[in-house]
Amino acid sequence: MQAHNLEELKTKAKSSRQKALVALLLFWQENRLELEPAAAFSRPEEVSLYRLLVLRSVRHLAATDWLLEKLAERKLQKLDLEVRAAFHLGITQLAEEERVPAHAALKETVDLMPFCRKPQLTGLLNALLRRYQREKESWLHALGQEPLWRQTSHPKWLAQRWQELYGAKTTQSILQADQCPPGIALVVNPRLDPAPFIRSLADQGFRPLENPLRVEEAHGLFETPAFKEGAFFIQDPSAHKLIQLLQDLPKANWLDACAAPGGKLFAAEWLYGREIERLVGLEPEKGRFARLEANHRRLGSKARLVMGDALSWTDREKFDLILVDAPCSATGTIRKHPEIKWTRDLEGFMANQKTQGKLLASLAPQVNLGGHLVYSTCSLEREENQAVVELFLRSHPDFALAPFRAGLEITPSGFYQALPSPLQMGAFAAQLKRVNL
Ligand SMILES: C[S@@+](CC[C@H](N)C(=O)[O-])C[C@H]1O[C@@H](n2cnc3c(N)ncnc32)[C@H](O)[C@@H]1O
Repeated sequence: MQAHNLEELKTKAKSSRQKALVALLLFWQENRLELEPAAAFSRPEEVSLYRLLVLRSVRHLAATDWLLEKLAERKLQKLDLEVRAAFHLGITQLAEEERVPAHAALKETVDLMPFCRKPQLTGLLNALLRRYQREKESWLHALGQEPLWRQTSHPKWLAQRWQELYGAKTTQSILQADQCPPGIALVVNPRLDPAPFIRSLADQGFRPLENPLRVEEAHGLFETPAFKEGAFFIQDPSAHKLIQLLQDLPKANWLDACAAPGGKLFAAEWLYGREIERLVGLEPEKGRFARLEANHRRLGSKARLVMGDALSWTDREKFDLILVDAPCSATGTIRKHPEIKWTRDLEGFMANQKTQGKLLASLAPQVNLGGHLVYSTCSLEREENQAVVELFLRSHPDFALAPFRAGLEITPSGFYQALPSPLQMGAFAAQLKRVNL
């Protein structure tokens, strides 16, 4: 499809389905997913339908493409991209029948063909979706006989590399967990009594679940007075646990060198506020810094925020703890960002490794003797995790690995490694202690 046609469609798209169709076409064209902001829709229900359509379609991409090829009895390349995109949206709606009645799903989906100036394809799309609807059980059974990477819609190469790294059984759990949209885990302000807060969430219809405290649906959550007044922030349990694991480290002076949007910074402040004398959050990217500042204001944080680049920024005083929550491929967060599985490659992992190594090397001189660099990512890839630590230690004899105390999710070498599961996403961390000046 030509780029200018797509731009024209983007301008013309008004309904959730039309906007979702455009998002999928753009995703295939640009290899990145950009979701429209809530402000682009007139009603909140439209935002949630749009997000459901796009994210679920991307999450189930390979399985649905497989179905499409079988039903159409031809290769994907022989089908118009518009039919492919609309078929994905149709299948998504047919899978969510309690939210979208089947007759509306079919009618509104086939109406997408005239919308994108392909009325001649309406019949084909209609026939494909109706055949799927009639034969759904047998198609789902046939899909169930396919390899797990296809059933769970992951690229084969990614599933294979995880299998080498984590073994077959663990990889199976990761692939299955990645297919579940994440719950929204809340960290509650320690100044609040959690019980009445949880009751008030329930009274407002959020159906809170506990251990960890979470809600299944964020719809309306960010408009509540509790959110605006800084009663809580959102943080995946894998990230929160990492901050909890740092309880024994010296932390009077704490630098969060890659801070935005601030989850780990605010978790540190809420958990260890009494021990931390100086807390600094650094972030170079303007848009992300603005989000960090907004969260800082909302949560009433006392941390000092600095817009700056950790590769060049220095402070007069050194730190006891420098957290380097580095930019990474984020393959541990596929539950939340399903497009990640389609947009990453080994070359990218290696490029990240270079940046991650540079960040550690440039921050190392700012760590006090006996203090720690804590390196973390939300990647599942060895190149961005263990390999970065090994390379750093080889060139920095003044640092040594300080293993996390043995326990759940601590590897035999002493790294923290959380893997995607129904309750959390993936994360990695290592503690590097300064043993010499
Ligand atoms: C994984 S995110 C951090 C998430 C954050 N720690 C939290 O818990 O909310 C990585 C951040 O590092 C920032 N970053 C990228 N390059 C950087 C650099 N050279 N110096 C400091 N921060 C950098 C990115 O803009 C991004 O905001």
